[in-house]
Amino acid sequence: MIRCEGLTKYYGNHRAIADVDIHVSEGEIVGFLGPNAAGKTTAMRILTSFIPPSAGIATVAGHDVVTDSLESRRCIGYLPETASLYRDMRVTQFLRFCAGLRGMGGAETSERMEYVIDTCGLAERADSIIATLSLGYRQRVGLAQALLHDPPVLIFDEPTVGLDPNQIIEVRNLIKSLAEKHTVMLSTHILPEAAMTCERVIIINHGRIIAEDTPEALTAQIREAETVSVTLASPGESVERQLTDMTEVVAVRPQGGGIFHVDTAIGADVRAQIAEFVVGHDWGLLELRPVEMTLEDVFQQLTTEEEGVE
Ligand SMILES: Nc1ncnc2c1ncn2[C@@H]1O[C@H](COP(=O)(O)OP(=O)(O)OP(=O)(O)O)[C@@H](O)[C@H]1O
Ligand SMILES: [Mg+2]
Repeated sequence: MIRCEGLTKYYGNHRAIADVDIHVSEGEIVGFLGPNAAGKTTAMRILTSFIPPSAGIATVAGHDVVTDSLESRRCIGYLPETASLYRDMRVTQFLRFCAGLRGMGGAETSERMEYVIDTCGLAERADSIIATLSLGYRQRVGLAQALLHDPPVLIFDEPTVGLDPNQIIEVRNLIKSLAEKHTVMLSTHILPEAAMTCERVIIINHGRIIAEDTPEALTAQIREAETVSVTLASPGESVERQLTDMTEVVAVRPQGGGIFHVDTAIGADVRAQIAEFVVGHDWGLLELRPVEMTLEDVFQQLTTEEEGVE
């Protein structure tokens, strides 16, 4: 549904993205993850025909975003980074105006307006003038506008920015439910958000894609060791050395407070041996659990490794 090949964008001499390939299949929900200035918004602006690429091609639902942009834009619901709303309009007025721009008929407009107002939690403020809404509510209007014409492809640039914690959860659930009928690409630098909502994550840094996979596979790919966290009530002086001496243990890293992180070779599961060993030494075993690597760790490792690489 979304396809970019060799996408490159220069702003003057500054290259914002370089040689970006993206493929998103129908019904997929993909997270576009990267630090500030990585090029997320730039790529999304090209996909939505706001700016042309300097090189490369992009298509949405089979329509070229440059040569067939009217058709490609018909297929897209776009939530830009800063929602562009007519601030002197009321919410319903604005949505009706958007429906008009989209060429929607009267009956369809009424039905879809009711749906998006309800779905985006706007019922209470439907008659408010947009300028009087809080940031989070304006974000909701932006989302409502993107969903209004029921497009097959949704492109959301940081959809949860400015929302309160309850609304963040609601919007994440909404996005997940949308993925059943739509293809969704969303950008974020909130890693747990990508891990929670997306089936696949594309990581971009300095304008280049540096990794692409499921959150689980990315974590596994970068993991160098299995780590077990052991919490002891009364660790003896020699815990670190004795644990290190166990076969399969690669390293022991004291974390303070009686907590030790024990690294073992990939694929090894030595929890039973560690438990037996610790209990045998009477160190007071309080907790023993595997340490999962988060997408945050992966992101940090990938983006710092690439630092300075041109
Ligand atoms: N209109 C513009 N003119 C010149 N440079 C620009 C323009 N828009 C973006 N850039 C530059 O392009 C690079 C990528 O910016 P972009 O907005 O795509 O990043 P981003 O990944 O969306 O970052 P953020 O997480 O902060 O939103 C940045 O170095 C930015 O300064
Ligand atoms: Mg951005």
